[in-house]
Amino acid sequence: MKALEPTMTTLARKPRIGILGTGNMAFALGKSFLAAGHFVAFGSRRPETKNEFHAAVGTESRIYGYQAAIDAGEIVIITLPYQSVAATARKFSDSLRNKLIIDITNPFGAQPNNGDSGAQVTASIIGGGARVIAAFKTNFAATFENPVDSTGEPREVHYAGDDEEGMEAIAELIQGIGFKPVNCGTLAQAVALDHMVPLMIRLDDSEHGAVHKSLWRIT
Ligand SMILES: NC(=O)c1ccc[n+]([C@@H]2O[C@H](COP(=O)([O-])OP(=O)(O)OC[C@H]3O[C@@H](n4cnc5c(N)ncnc54)[C@H](OP(=O)(O)O)[C@@H]3O)[C@@H](O)[C@H]2O)c1
Repeated sequence: MKALEPTMTTLARKPRIGILGTGNMAFALGKSFLAAGHFVAFGSRRPETKNEFHAAVGTESRIYGYQAAIDAGEIVIITLPYQSVAATARKFSDSLRNKLIIDITNPFGAQPNNGDSGAQVTASIIGGGARVIAAFKTNFAATFENPVDSTGEPREVHYAGDDEEGMEAIAELIQGIGFKPVNCGTLAQAVALDHMVPLMIRLDDSEHGAVHKSLWRIT
């Protein structure tokens, strides 16, 4: 395994988080990690236009371009539209190779047709043993305000990856913001998560009026 900036098997301190994107999920995740005491830097295509976002999410965060946000994070979370991920991963592959990466993006209508998961594609574009973990794909942005559901139990966050140390670190990270981490296997097996999301959205619509508070739970 290649040397990494941090050793995060057990998170002795709160790792710094870089978040690529300033949309709904970036906001939800960023607020959660800021509340949990992490340093958070967001990467935007136009950081100079994000004053409103900055004020709403918390001015203790930083709003940078992509390169600076990657550099600032020990863990980098990709919260872009899936269609933008490949080009971004390619452009910043050298920097991303040194980070633990969380890919939350959902390849709606663009699933790789060889059965690979979206996160596998991200990892192969970054190359060089990229440490990519798929996570948060099955969590609606609207649920981050309250990670405990109506039964009083923490909502599950499904995560999957091939990097043992990275998986442990991400499980701790998930727990640290109030959710319950559920290990769903390898990065290849993350393809199941990719497919759970369109079904979750459809059922949330048909069964719960599209409030986007639904969740998957294994009991
Ligand atoms: N919304 C959810 O509940 C949810 C839940 C789980 C997973 N996801 C996945 O998470 C990812 C982000 O979802 P989201 O709802 O946060 O999306 P969003 O609100 O549209 O935000 C995406 C962000 O990506 C950046 N971006 C870069 N290239 C872009 C482009 N070509 N077009 C639009 N934005 C671009 C933008 O930030 P800048 O303008 O600052 O560059 C934008 O704010 C998606 O892959 C989605 O499938 C979403």
